[in-house]
Amino acid sequence: MDRLIHVSYPRETQGSIALCQRDISEILHLGAGCRRYKRKMRMMPLSRTARSIPIASRVNRFSYAIRNIVAEAQAVEAAGTPVRYLNIGDPASFGFQPPVHMIEAVERAMRDGHNGYLASPGIAAAREAVAADYTAKGVPISADRVLITTGTSEAIDLVLNALVDEGEEVLVPLPTYPLYTAVIAKIGAEARYYRTDPKRNWQPDIDHLRSLVTPRTRVLVTIDPNNPTGAVYSPSVRRALLEIAEENALTILADEVYGELGFDGPVPLLGTLDRDAAVISLSSLSKAYLAPGWRTGWVVLGATSRLNDTLAAMKKLADGRLCSPGPMQYAVVAALTGDRSHQVMFRKALAERARNTAEAFNAMPGMRCVSPHAAFYAMPMLSLPPGRTDEDYVLTLLRETGILCVYGSGFGMPPEAGSFRIVYLADPVELQSIYADIAAFTRRYLQQA
Ligand SMILES: Cc1ncc(COP(=O)(O)O)c(C=O)c1O
Repeated sequence: MDRLIHVSYPRETQGSIALCQRDISEILHLGAGCRRYKRKMRMMPLSRTARSIPIASRVNRFSYAIRNIVAEAQAVEAAGTPVRYLNIGDPASFGFQPPVHMIEAVERAMRDGHNGYLASPGIAAAREAVAADYTAKGVPISADRVLITTGTSEAIDLVLNALVDEGEEVLVPLPTYPLYTAVIAKIGAEARYYRTDPKRNWQPDIDHLRSLVTPRTRVLVTIDPNNPTGAVYSPSVRRALLEIAEENALTILADEVYGELGFDGPVPLLGTLDRDAAVISLSSLSKAYLAPGWRTGWVVLGATSRLNDTLAAMKKLADGRLCSPGPMQYAVVAALTGDRSHQVMFRKALAERARNTAEAFNAMPGMRCVSPHAAFYAMPMLSLPPGRTDEDYVLTLLRETGILCVYGSGFGMPPEAGSFRIVYLADPVELQSIYADIAAFTRRYLQQA
């Protein structure tokens, strides 16, 4: 006992006294005197280094311009200029809200106690609703080939992680939705951009795409209808995409999240052109069902047995994240089996805004804008003065007018191409005033160059 009382001082415990295991456990079981010692030990400062904690190198390869640019906007706001946010494709923040029957389904699910973890591929009713929807649209599929995900975003991550190894290649459209290149970079794979051509309504350049295929290419990403261009691919282009994939044993990741927002009505699923193709289709409640904050989507693997291993791999990966948000899965059932008349009105509202947008930009000097055919994005291009970049134009526009859009290089475009993406979900009257401000600013910008 005496011996133990002698060693109860913090300074002596910093390695200068060798205590055997039994001594230590005896100290820890002492009475009040030793509790004071233990308290002191807890309060002792650890030796710290002043250096900041290093981050993983993959973070430097990960970039998502649509949100990165918000920091600039906040600085402009802090300096006293109100910002008009045209950077994010969020219908809810422009007043388009999900249909009441979807809200009721979520509320009911919560009240009925569906607040626990669910099966990782999703609830049977939601998977069946997605399968029935695809079947009705001409892609017959069973519910076991559907996974419910945390939005299309998580589905992108699951598909690419299931299929692509470090050092392998993925074909992505140029311009692209930036999450693709960000996830590909995170995996340590390589994005190969295939051009889409503004002179041909932003249709993919099939010859260029074909020239990019190598033995390391694993996946062909298609975004149709397209973000950021608003293009809808022609049937012949879609057939060519399927052919290239087939000839080179590629899997198509078909991002069809805007499929129901074609201005001439829903755009056919890619899988309707070839039911045996290796097509993995993604969509969600975010756009056509106006509930992006619910973070709920789905991925559908084509019926071909060539995708069976992919399905098993994706289920394995999905197990690790437990499940996608529970109550919202009940809204998938409501959305896909209930009334969709909101889409008729939404498409009409978008088509009108698209027309006005293309008209307004095409009337500006040095600017051209292809008319969008779906969704709520347009990608105007400005003939930039020599030495200027799209980022310079967009940031100067932001600082001088408070209008926030996203520079085209954030979507992979060359900075000197002068492209930028506009989200045209705002009210038509407000859009008119925004476009008048952009026109006045652009005239000044070109004159001052
Ligand atoms: C082409 C495309 N894919 C995926 C997403 C992500 O959508 P979600 O909200 O379903 O994750 C977006 C969002 O803007 C998108 O434009």
